[in-house]
Amino acid sequence: MHKISVIPGDGAGQEVIPEALRVLERVAELEYRHFDWGSEYYFHHGRMMPEDALARLAETDAILLGAIGHPDIPDNITLNGLLLPIRREFDQFANVRPAILYTGVESPLAGKRGIDMVVVRENTEGEYAQVGGFLYRHQPEEVAVQTAVFTRRGIERVVRFAFELARKRNMKRRVTSVTKSNAQGFGMVLWDRVFDAVAAEFPEIETESLLVDAAAMNFVRRPESFDVVVGSNLFGDILSDLSAIIAGSIGLAASANLDPTRRHPSMFEPVHGSAPDIAGRGIVNPLAAILSGAMMLDHLGLDGGRVERAVAGVLAEGDIRTADLGGSSSTREVTDAVMDRL
Ligand code: IPM
Ligand code: MN
Repeated sequence: MHKISVIPGDGAGQEVIPEALRVLERVAELEYRHFDWGSEYYFHHGRMMPEDALARLAETDAILLGAIGHPDIPDNITLNGLLLPIRREFDQFANVRPAILYTGVESPLAGKRGIDMVVVRENTEGEYAQVGGFLYRHQPEEVAVQTAVFTRRGIERVVRFAFELARKRNMKRRVTSVTKSNAQGFGMVLWDRVFDAVAAEFPEIETESLLVDAAAMNFVRRPESFDVVVGSNLFGDILSDLSAIIAGSIGLAASANLDPTRRHPSMFEPVHGSAPDIAGRGIVNPLAAILSGAMMLDHLGLDGGRVERAVAGVLAEGDIRTADLGGSSSTREVTDAVMDRL
């Protein structure tokens, strides 16, 4: 039986993960290990997770994570203490973030339909490499250096993953690469070069290279034209919030942090954060977490499609939805509606 590490984490994560588990328990036989790591754990232990956390996670086949972040702890402590080291240490280099405009959901872009894209974000290096430091820290003349790291291996593997995904999706058969190589003359020039070299191995896939500013504009102008979009860690982060909102709500945005080599467990999490402004009132949209659970099932070779179809059915029907989608249903009611369809 597949073993799953469950880390609800903070705020909204504590609300949506139990809902995702209700759905998963309905459709699959999985063994769960529950971990109470996160900001509450930090208040008691001075760290976000125990020293042997990665070793314990490594004993399992996948990780289901809620959200990390607390208003009373600096974000760079919480995130560098829990979420980011898991992505890096487990070499989860492909962060897969689908953005689908489901029937029954309205895009804030008037009249837009046909949005069905996946942002593939490089997830281990680039602007998130955490290479750098302070000089004269907290002095008036202080200096901070933050270096982006781009390796040929790192670019090549995520770009190849994107092309293979476009082939597997077999939809628009297009991969768009996003950089800023007109201004970032080293790392992103290397990215463009590697992209072109990998593209040559996939002659049946159409390619496009956009600068990130133009990509942001075109996500709004012609979102229906995108299929698979591949970009650096930071650009993928930014563009995947944009793709989420043009597909209706960040409350629907699921993600998978994949180690496609399967040497390490992959991690599945909603794109939204701990949402301290609305957490604890039972109104958070559980669908991003539920859809992340569906991505996990697919990764394990189980039937995530069944869960996704149930979610799509609830959205198409249109009367049960949380406030982010213009409704007034509770977190629980939305999950119940999904369960009814299973
Ligand atoms: C995300 C989040 C994280 C990221 C933050 C919380 C560090 O925004 O998963 O998109 O930037 O990767
Ligand atoms: Mn983000």
